[in-house]
Amino acid sequence: MRRKFVAGNWKMNGDLASNAALISAVKAGLAAEGNVDVATCVPAPYLAQVQAAVSGSAIGLGAQDVSAHAAGAYTGEVSAAMLAEFACKYVIVGHSERRAYHGETDAQVAAKTAAALKSGLTPIVCVGETLAQREAAQTNAVVGGQLDVVLAALEAGQVEAIVVAYEPVWAIGTGKTATPEMAQDVHAMLRARLALKSVEAATKVRILYGGSMKPDNAKELLAMADIDGGLIGGAALKAADFLAIVQAAQSN
Ligand code: PGA
Repeated sequence: MRRKFVAGNWKMNGDLASNAALISAVKAGLAAEGNVDVATCVPAPYLAQVQAAVSGSAIGLGAQDVSAHAAGAYTGEVSAAMLAEFACKYVIVGHSERRAYHGETDAQVAAKTAAALKSGLTPIVCVGETLAQREAAQTNAVVGGQLDVVLAALEAGQVEAIVVAYEPVWAIGTGKTATPEMAQDVHAMLRARLALKSVEAATKVRILYGGSMKPDNAKELLAMADIDGGLIGGAALKAADFLAIVQAAQSN
């Protein structure tokens, strides 16, 4: 049985005051002995603030991107070792917004995944198709292909250390969600791809769903066999909504 995992992705939102209020409300609402892993992925300037705020709580800290490089002349980039110094456990890699607005390629996503693992971080590897690709019946080819490039860069023994997030691009921030069945089909396909690399890892890797997951649809999505949690954007900015999703994961 895989432990459910709910990760918030704040994206480029927040300020010192609202971050403090949000973290303290989430901390107050989390059960002491939860059966769900919880994380929050924050903008890089707030890592130190949120590191201190979540210390001693069950909330794991995450970042939203990482450099593929270890150090050097890469202005604006943040290395995995730097994230690890702020007690980051997780880092999102290959989010569709990075792919779309920063031209990140599958190869770069694979290199970032490898860099994160090297520093002991858990990469949350995002994959997802656009609406045009779904309508052209290319979902499995696109999403499976994105994962395959990452898997090709890893040793079989490293695969169990990653988390995968299926985020259909057309569902992100749009209020449109994949139906539980649509998401489950893709998750099962992704698990089969993982199994081609490592049968053992495929049973262990958590595959999250992301894309307008909200309190009112979380339960039915999280009830599906291969949906092991959620990567939550908009709803992670409201403590009550985020906590309700964690609770839905707890009861699944
Ligand atoms: P959303 O974002 O929940 O606001 O759709 C999810 C994501 O982009 O990770």
